[in-house]
Amino acid sequence: MEPLIRVKNMYKIYNPGENEVRALDDVSLEINQGGEFIAIVGHSGSGKSTFMNMLGCLDTPDSGGEYFLDGKDVANLSDNELSDIRNHKIGFIFQGFNLIPNLDALGNVELPLIYRGLGKQQRKEIAGEALSKVGLENRMDHRPNQLSGGQQQRVAVARAIAAQPPIILADEPTGNLDSKSTIEIMNILKDLHKSGRTVIIITHDDEIANQVDRVVRIMDGKIVSDSVNQ
Ligand SMILES: Nc1ncnc2c1ncn2[C@@H]1O[C@H](COP(=O)(O)OP(=O)(O)OP(=O)(O)O)[C@@H](O)[C@H]1O
Ligand SMILES: [Mg+2]
Repeated sequence: MEPLIRVKNMYKIYNPGENEVRALDDVSLEINQGGEFIAIVGHSGSGKSTFMNMLGCLDTPDSGGEYFLDGKDVANLSDNELSDIRNHKIGFIFQGFNLIPNLDALGNVELPLIYRGLGKQQRKEIAGEALSKVGLENRMDHRPNQLSGGQQQRVAVARAIAAQPPIILADEPTGNLDSKSTIEIMNILKDLHKSGRTVIIITHDDEIANQVDRVVRIMDGKIVSDSVNQ
């Protein structure tokens, strides 16, 4: 079967020349269909977020490599086609929460549903359900600055899962959280995996990496190991 994600010889080189940064340096990776639970692990500056942006069709790699997402060649699509794919296939949880400050929790979770073309009533229902799933049914009308860090991250998780995308891409989803919130967020991500989603967690934290099924290590833009947790 064609893998869900097939990356071959992917490069992203910033400032080519003497001071170039090889953020992705000949990266090849396959992620199978059927809901893998995978961590991409590396030190600060190793290329994790760059790789996530490529996997999530938020940025385009240098020419020459290949990227097939669910059998579709996405290396050469227009911006419109890419945003369509993002909308239907991928839920993002960003490093920083990327919530809109002047929208309340419900409004933030509704946003991607607007791009899906859903009507207001339906959006509210679906967004409300997603917020309940992450335990925030009593905080729907709170704006981000009225929420704790862990709660803001849960709003970001609700936003990522509201439209039920098959792939969840999470960049340091527990990066700024205390240990209790970290456990809560990891439990939500584990449940998403159990429900059949492909969950990809970007992290520098080995304790997070120990909780997933497969660990891909990246160093200086190169994949240096790819192993299965026992
Ligand atoms: N727009 C850019 N222009 C030039 N260099 C960049 C750009 N974006 C990233 N880089 C460089 O590419 C490398 C990889 O950056 P990236 O953000 O992918 O790292 P990361 O592994 O996510 O790090 P962190 O754990 O700190 O988030 C870094 O050395 C960074 O300085
Ligand atoms: Mg990063």
